[in-house]
Amino acid sequence: MRLFKTIAEIRAFRQECYRQGKTVALVPTMGYLHEGHLSLARAARKDCDVVVMSIFVNPTQFGPNEDFERYPRDLDRDLRLAEEAGVEAVFAPEVKEMYPPGYATYVEVERLTEHLCGRSRPGHFRGVATVVSKLFNIVQPDKAYFGQKDYQQSVVIRRMVADLNFPLEIVVVPTVRDADGLALSSRNKYLSPLERRSALSLYRALLKGEALIREGERRAGVVRRAMEEVILASPGTKIDYVAVSDAETLEPLEEIKGKAVLALAVWVGSTRLIDNLLVEV
Ligand code: PAJ
Repeated sequence: MRLFKTIAEIRAFRQECYRQGKTVALVPTMGYLHEGHLSLARAARKDCDVVVMSIFVNPTQFGPNEDFERYPRDLDRDLRLAEEAGVEAVFAPEVKEMYPPGYATYVEVERLTEHLCGRSRPGHFRGVATVVSKLFNIVQPDKAYFGQKDYQQSVVIRRMVADLNFPLEIVVVPTVRDADGLALSSRNKYLSPLERRSALSLYRALLKGEALIREGERRAGVVRRAMEEVILASPGTKIDYVAVSDAETLEPLEEIKGKAVLALAVWVGSTRLIDNLLVEV
């Protein structure tokens, strides 16, 4: 496996792939890899000849009081895991390679970013859309892989790819969970054993919401409140949002119909966790 730190190097690697007629997949990550990231790499490996993974903790998607500085990093371990998952090249640039002095251009996806995480993390999706656009232009992949774990992110990226005519296909891969249901996340590292137990309430709440809908409940407010109760029954939790939204527009629903997403963000101690479940009625 090869490690590239500069845009020039990964571009040269990409040119080599063109010459050899190889299709290229991109798996964008912020590193501290877990089975969720690796499932994206494996899916990519099945579809394409070459898998490129980017590992870059992107400062522009973190708010001023968020965890950019303390976000977990371990490049050596990441390189080992990426190689095992069939990644051929890792692109791990320094911040100044991606955002040199004088940098001034940002990508803004409207409307979809007003809801859910966009509401509580202003500027977050602007940073995500910007860095992902840059990665698409740098790597020029045939396909790019994203996790359903960050559902809103996947919807925003799909919209951006359609609107800005990026010539690639977006693939969304199902959420990988621990045996007890907790969605894998690099931020789970922050949780104490007690907090980890409380964090299970996120998935339990989603399952509760899904069960109510399956039993015939169509009032989003009723489903939302039932989910909130599950979370608040766990110690040390604080709800950021619990939403029942249209799966495409991400707008809040009153009556559940068609494709909907149950989505939530919850503080467990000082760690903010997100999770979601798609439902169709
Ligand atoms: P990061 O949080 O490292 O996640 C990288 C990719 O892995 C995202 O597409 C995310 O949805 C996916 N992922 C994370 N946990 C997952 C899980 N449990 N199951 C399945 N997929 C999972 O998301 C980002 O980084 C950044 O915003 C990025 C897109 C790299 C832009 O900086």
